[in-house]
Amino acid sequence: MGIHAQVKCVSLLRVMRNLKPASTQSFLPFGSTFLLLVVFSCVLASSAQVLAQAPAPDSPAIEAKAHAMVAKLSLEQKIELLGGVEGMFTHASPAIDLPRFKMSDASVGVRTWGPTTAYAGGVALAASWDPELARKIGESLGRDARSRSVNFLLGPGVNIARSPIAGRNFEYLSEDPYLNSTVVVPYIEGVQSQGVIATVKHYALNNQEYNRHNVSSDIDERTMREIYLPAFEAAVTKGHVDAVMNSYNLINGVHATQNEFLNLKVLKGEWGFQGILMSDWDATYDPVGAANNGLDLEMPSPRFMNAKGLLPAVKDGSVKESTIDEKLMRLFRTELRYGFVDRPQFDPADSTYSVADRRVALDGALESITLLKNDGNLLPLNPAKIKTIAVIGPNAWPAVAGGGGSSESQAFEPVSTLTGIANLLGPNVHVLYTRGLPEMNDVFRRTTWDGLIQVATYPSKDFTGTPETATVTSIGDYRRERRGPPENGGPRSIRYTANYTAAKAGQYLVLAAYQSWGGSFKVIVDSKELPMPPHAEGLVPPFWTIDLKAGQKVNVVAECVQGNYGGTFGLGIAYEPDLVSPDVKTYAAAADVVVVAVGFTAATESEGSDRTFALPWGQDALIAAAAQANPHTIVMLTGGGGMDTRSWLSKVPALLHVYYPGQEGGTAIAEVLFGKHNPEGKLPVSFDRSWDENPSAAFYYPVKGADTTLHVIEPGHPPVDYVIPHVKYDDGLMVGYRYWTTTGKHPLYPFGFGLSYTTFSFANLQVPATAASGSTVPVSFDVTNAGKVAGAEVAQLYVSDPSAKSTRPERELKGFEKVRLTPGETKHVTLNLDARAFSYWDDKAHKWTIDPGKFVIRVGDSSENTPLHADLALN
Ligand code: BGC
Repeated sequence: MGIHAQVKCVSLLRVMRNLKPASTQSFLPFGSTFLLLVVFSCVLASSAQVLAQAPAPDSPAIEAKAHAMVAKLSLEQKIELLGGVEGMFTHASPAIDLPRFKMSDASVGVRTWGPTTAYAGGVALAASWDPELARKIGESLGRDARSRSVNFLLGPGVNIARSPIAGRNFEYLSEDPYLNSTVVVPYIEGVQSQGVIATVKHYALNNQEYNRHNVSSDIDERTMREIYLPAFEAAVTKGHVDAVMNSYNLINGVHATQNEFLNLKVLKGEWGFQGILMSDWDATYDPVGAANNGLDLEMPSPRFMNAKGLLPAVKDGSVKESTIDEKLMRLFRTELRYGFVDRPQFDPADSTYSVADRRVALDGALESITLLKNDGNLLPLNPAKIKTIAVIGPNAWPAVAGGGGSSESQAFEPVSTLTGIANLLGPNVHVLYTRGLPEMNDVFRRTTWDGLIQVATYPSKDFTGTPETATVTSIGDYRRERRGPPENGGPRSIRYTANYTAAKAGQYLVLAAYQSWGGSFKVIVDSKELPMPPHAEGLVPPFWTIDLKAGQKVNVVAECVQGNYGGTFGLGIAYEPDLVSPDVKTYAAAADVVVVAVGFTAATESEGSDRTFALPWGQDALIAAAAQANPHTIVMLTGGGGMDTRSWLSKVPALLHVYYPGQEGGTAIAEVLFGKHNPEGKLPVSFDRSWDENPSAAFYYPVKGADTTLHVIEPGHPPVDYVIPHVKYDDGLMVGYRYWTTTGKHPLYPFGFGLSYTTFSFANLQVPATAASGSTVPVSFDVTNAGKVAGAEVAQLYVSDPSAKSTRPERELKGFEKVRLTPGETKHVTLNLDARAFSYWDDKAHKWTIDPGKFVIRVGDSSENTPLHADLALN
């Protein structure tokens, strides 16, 4: 059977859900052979009549079978099924012939089970503003998953990019709920069309990585409903996602995994979610709380929802057995609906490595790369005019396909910026490359300390007890070695004491990196602690600049307290003017044009930590050095959102944001630079000048003095008290462009902005003068390619509600369409605005509300440039 037939056959699943026909597939015997699968698949693919008899999510046959399975289990056997096994599987139940089902992370590729195709994930996908691309990537991920026998894909992530420093923005989508909702629905449909369950995550309010296990996101209902929940809502109500993953954090003081409001009232109640609600990995804190408040599956293992935690609870009535049955019904119904019980998940029609999917990955990169600055139309470059090009920077090679953490994928054949450019230019152009800066570990290793470093390792978390002492010549080997928890039990504290003498006068970089979940450290120079950015525990890696005189000797002490899993630490000092390699100037001066590839990587932007707004150490100086040597310097940024460009932006004529473009990034970057592809990405986040001006900055960190304590009893373990810091979302609705357009101030580059090699014009806006509240309002307009090359424009529609009784953001995105146009071509676009496009959440009435009166419809190419506008009166 060809791929085409397979795609067709599995996409029937979606159709089946709507048709609700009688079942045949679910009665195939469990463990059906490969042959049977092939025959069955072909029959499905070729016969509409068979389709009409296929199973439905709530078909009586599935319902009856699920009930029968529950009925065969003892209470102990039932409870056993509420927790995962071996990190990435559901629990099997031999009593009912139920095998275990396999999971995989997600976000950029099916990454858990070996190398994978890595797509433009999260923020890059959102930058494409292309729901059909999202569907294609979803389908490819689904096929990748099937070829690895994966039943559950642990993505997509849809949390709002509230702040540029949140460590996981790159895995999520954008700062806007409408854009997120519009992209996530086809993505989920794509994954699930292949017979794989998508898992939308992390529900909810996981908008920072700093202290993500313990922090409480404290927020009012309106902000939650209007900004932070809509993408989850769309995933459930429109995308029919079959699994949801709770987040680590607490929401208004209650952990997500036991949050009645979010799980029972909203998700399973109002939105009618029928699928499986699973925890994030080790995000459960109370067996009774979780069981009674909606959690169906504790991952990766049942630390709380286990026999010790739940048997006595059922006995004393604090958890009803019917509540446990309900969870099993959700698990079984969903698994039966997908046919997991009746057929192998491995589908021989799919490929583990596929050239067709490489093309999908390339499309993702091509559609997302965003051109932010192009002075004097430096771009596109003309390959015929280039004899030598210098490709410089830590992100030029190797490829930076994605960020760090559980989504980090080992891509098959990733194409770096350097190799992509060289491949495109061919043999007649000289390509010069230098990383331009040392590797972090090289800074640690090459620091010339005065003599030996004293290391004292204490058997405690607070430098008490008798230390073991040793001497070393350098501090650390960050990320290469990972020490396990100390064998004598419990984390250790380690003090390094060293001396350093400055050879020359000038500025010195002090660079530190600590990888230790839950650990902390400080660096003390001549008895003065170097100031950490607020709550810097999670920032990787912090750095400081100190001024030293020639011959000045400093005493350096680093104190590290390990988290429960040990940790690795690195510390080094380097003379700043020597950091940038002399090759940078030599190469830049010798080249016709320079591409400097900088930004973040999996080591500096990752799950579990926030990142800096500043570029990683040395990169500002690197750009300045290249730009000084060659005025034709193009900067390319990698990262999950905005970053600090202030020290060099005016010195460079061109700037591109490539986000994390997936494994084909280098090819796409080259095609964009040389005009084989006209850039079409649009910023899915506002790009701030500085962290301070971001609207969340004042509210991002926990409120001082507001910590509470949470008493947690893990069954069979002594109680533990957790300190819960509270982050108050007092920026409210004013996230990203909502803030900028409401205040009339301007970020560096607005949400929705991105340049093209052609120009587009907008005209002929048609909006009815009046319409009934609650009706669908058609809005139409023309988009014309007024330039000389083909290109794509994203027409964006924003709604303003100046007569609202409640304060609303000045404008909100409520429609968009990507339009591909040849030179001179015009397309008439129609966008339909439904009731939600005009509504806000009425906090008092607890419902979506439209205030009749004046609305303004604006259309343009970014949140700030909306040349078309018209009034509309809703009555
Ligand atoms: C992450 C999830 C991921 C899970 C399994 C957690 O740490 O937050 O997004 O799916 O691990 O790897």
